[in-house]
Amino acid sequence: ATTAVRAVVDVDLPGAVISRHVYGHFAEHLGRCIYGGFFVGEDSDIPNAGGIRLDVVEALRALDIPNLRWPGGCFADEYHWRDGVGPREQRPRMVNSHWGDVVEDNSFGTHEFMALCEMLGAEPYVSANVGSGTVREASEWVEYLTRADDSPMAALRRANGRDEPWKVRFWGLGNEPWGCGGGMHAEAYADLARTFGVYSRDHGDNQLYRIAAGASDADYRWTQVLMKALGRTLGSGEVLGHGNSTFQAISFHYYTVPGPWESKGSATAFDTDEYYRTMVAARRIEEILAGHAAVMDAYDPGRRVGLVLDEWGTWFDVEPGTNPGFLFQQNTLRDALVAGVHFDAFHHHADRLVMANIAQTINVLQAMILTDGEALVLTPSYHVFEMNKGHQDARSLPLALRAASPAVGATDATGRRTELATFSASASTRDGRVLVSLTNLDADNPLDVEVDLRGARLGEPTGRILTAPALAAHNTPAEPAAVAPQPFAGLRLEGGVLRAQLPAHSFATVELPLL
Ligand code: AHR
Repeated sequence: ATTAVRAVVDVDLPGAVISRHVYGHFAEHLGRCIYGGFFVGEDSDIPNAGGIRLDVVEALRALDIPNLRWPGGCFADEYHWRDGVGPREQRPRMVNSHWGDVVEDNSFGTHEFMALCEMLGAEPYVSANVGSGTVREASEWVEYLTRADDSPMAALRRANGRDEPWKVRFWGLGNEPWGCGGGMHAEAYADLARTFGVYSRDHGDNQLYRIAAGASDADYRWTQVLMKALGRTLGSGEVLGHGNSTFQAISFHYYTVPGPWESKGSATAFDTDEYYRTMVAARRIEEILAGHAAVMDAYDPGRRVGLVLDEWGTWFDVEPGTNPGFLFQQNTLRDALVAGVHFDAFHHHADRLVMANIAQTINVLQAMILTDGEALVLTPSYHVFEMNKGHQDARSLPLALRAASPAVGATDATGRRTELATFSASASTRDGRVLVSLTNLDADNPLDVEVDLRGARLGEPTGRILTAPALAAHNTPAEPAAVAPQPFAGLRLEGGVLRAQLPAHSFATVELPLL
């Protein structure tokens, strides 16, 4: 049966700018994300520049990726940057104890990462080692990256072949310090974050945006402790000013996991109940974002401190026969719909959320790209990032439903019965046009959608739709376009009301010019 939903968008009341950085990415030394994904080495038969895969760069450039987080994740807190600079054959090796216990040869290091960012046109987001590194190491890494004169670290960078300092804005202070990043209590980490923040200096005109490592999921207390730690500097007004100390933003991580940790479920073999359970978990992002934002509002009503979700995405069981430590999973239409729901939430919270990073870009968890030797496949999630890229730096538009969203019965990850709202949407405006994103999560039924676009005259709508006959549909080298965007037929604009029928389990974007 077809259901219907009516929404209202006030085009003449634009809200906060949706930071383009909520479309950020994450590349960790984990499984085949860096090695085999981004980096194949200069001697590879796969076309590359300085070892970086050119097909990957071309595919990612089409997403306008704004920033790339590196080197972890958990890996960041055991990474010693000096091991990854200088002649490759002289770089020491180490054990990547978090991810597969494999030996890391450090052939991809600081210079390779910065070259990758330049090729992608993305800003670097570098995470310093707080868990097992020293304050001095972090301080010297910033100096190495960003200082222009003949200071010791700037001289070392030159000796390693790079004259000009790089620009580095986003600077992470460790990762998951409550877990793999050091097993700390919030109070202990808050003090460390302040210290690492102070010694991570601004050199010349390079101004760091320091991001303290934050909570897991709905651990609002962690956010509160960090906000309190900042409180001593917030009052003085120095927090965002040049030459400030401590940190300017707080992160948190939220993964969509449909089952218990020991048995998260298969990425491709799932029934409708498991699909709905996944979507219940995905839709929690709205509530969790609101929760962290509310804690921050209490200490910082002026919203000077940024909220950063620097890891998000689906986390399923690894593909059978693959290394459990490599977190390699297939990516289906279900993953694409998870992405659509997350972006709607990000757009709704544009006034506080300054950055988000999908985990991870290639071959790990909810990837944009899967590689197998020289083969490269764009996943359904990739297409959502591409279809939605027009929201980057656009002003968020308020969208309200006239009545509750249609819903289906579902269970959550603990087996509790609940309701899943099956319609999700968001809208923005930029460069003389309005962009609307629409998702129908219903596994079986199409949805008639009416969006009353008030307060502006709009031209003919054009749109694209992403769907497939099966929720588990995915792309492979043999069938690379099993899930790919198609023109969205049947769109109508009548008296300022946009009408469309969303097929079951589909994501769509609709663009309308402002007249
Ligand atoms: O993205 C994989 C891992 O998940 C990251 O290394 C860690 O921060 C998180 O637990």
